[in-house]
Amino acid sequence: MAGSGPVSSPDPIAQLLVSFREESARGVSSRAEFEALKGRYLGREKGLVPALFLGVRELPPEERAGYGARANAAKREIEEGIARLGETLARAESERRERTAAVDVTLPGRRTRAGSLHPVTLVRRRIEEIFLRMGYSIADGPEIESDFHNFEALNFPPEHPARDAQDTLFLDRKAESPLLLRTHTSPVQIREMRKRGAPLKIIAPGRVYRNESVDATHQPVFHQVEALVVDKEISMADLKGTVEAFFGALFGAGTRVRIIPTFFPFVEPGADVQMGCLFCNGAGCRTCKGSGWMEIAGAGEVHPAVLRACGIDPEEWSGFAFGLGLDRVAMMLYEFPDLRLLFEGDERFLSQLAPLS
Ligand code: DAH
Repeated sequence: MAGSGPVSSPDPIAQLLVSFREESARGVSSRAEFEALKGRYLGREKGLVPALFLGVRELPPEERAGYGARANAAKREIEEGIARLGETLARAESERRERTAAVDVTLPGRRTRAGSLHPVTLVRRRIEEIFLRMGYSIADGPEIESDFHNFEALNFPPEHPARDAQDTLFLDRKAESPLLLRTHTSPVQIREMRKRGAPLKIIAPGRVYRNESVDATHQPVFHQVEALVVDKEISMADLKGTVEAFFGALFGAGTRVRIIPTFFPFVEPGADVQMGCLFCNGAGCRTCKGSGWMEIAGAGEVHPAVLRACGIDPEEWSGFAFGLGLDRVAMMLYEFPDLRLLFEGDERFLSQLAPLS
């Protein structure tokens, strides 16, 4: 600066400190601003701090030492100040990162897809409700059964064709009482009668197994419900009244039911329960093969030999039983044509079947 002596000219060190203190008090709001400030003061080429040292040689020798010491002190203050600004900035940045990475509770939630109850479960629950209202209790039995419970106590003769390996899935055929996958829910009758004696009023829903080839109406694993009533003077009239009430509740009042004789080893007399065809209302169609009736359950009066096998005196007690397939009931209630749909696990099919009201 021409014409101005060192005494009257403003002290560059003091000036620089004043402006730095001002600036650093204001702080920086971004990394770019910080880097610019740092470069302006400390930049090796054009930085204001290195520039302070350039004039040293032009000073009179006696002033050099004092100037140099002050310039160094200023340099240290500025370096420290910038380091502090850097730390403050880094803290602000990491807080901002945490804030944006944290869960934003104001965002709408992502809906988790809820599963739906399987149609067979819906039908089972509906049937359980009906029977519970009629005073029955719900019984359960094992799916791995003994030959005794599945056949022998149910009065199947040893060489009865139902025992044939073509129908029955045996687990251990050679054992004294062979183990098998139960072929029906009727063994639960035996277990309950032996456990509780008479009187008795139970249903037993569950899974059953047969060595069937799969088609539209057959599956190797399917579901049944068994009903059993044992009391004094139980007759076919009680059976008829009960199946009428039950199928009326399940398929709607006015459902026609008829009972025609047939044979099962564990009932005498044995009966097929038939229901007026839901599809043609009795007029005759493909589903009912033109007869107007559909078989819906097996039934009968509990055979005296079965009562006896369970320690119940047939002179004193009598009973009726019936059993039906849940999967077929599901087909009829939900009106789908192929049993396989129930077991393929295709959620598009399974989830569209609403609870039955
Ligand atoms: N257990 C028979 C079946 O699986 C169905 C059945 C028939 C059950 C007559 C009964 C009955 O309780 O009395 O085919």
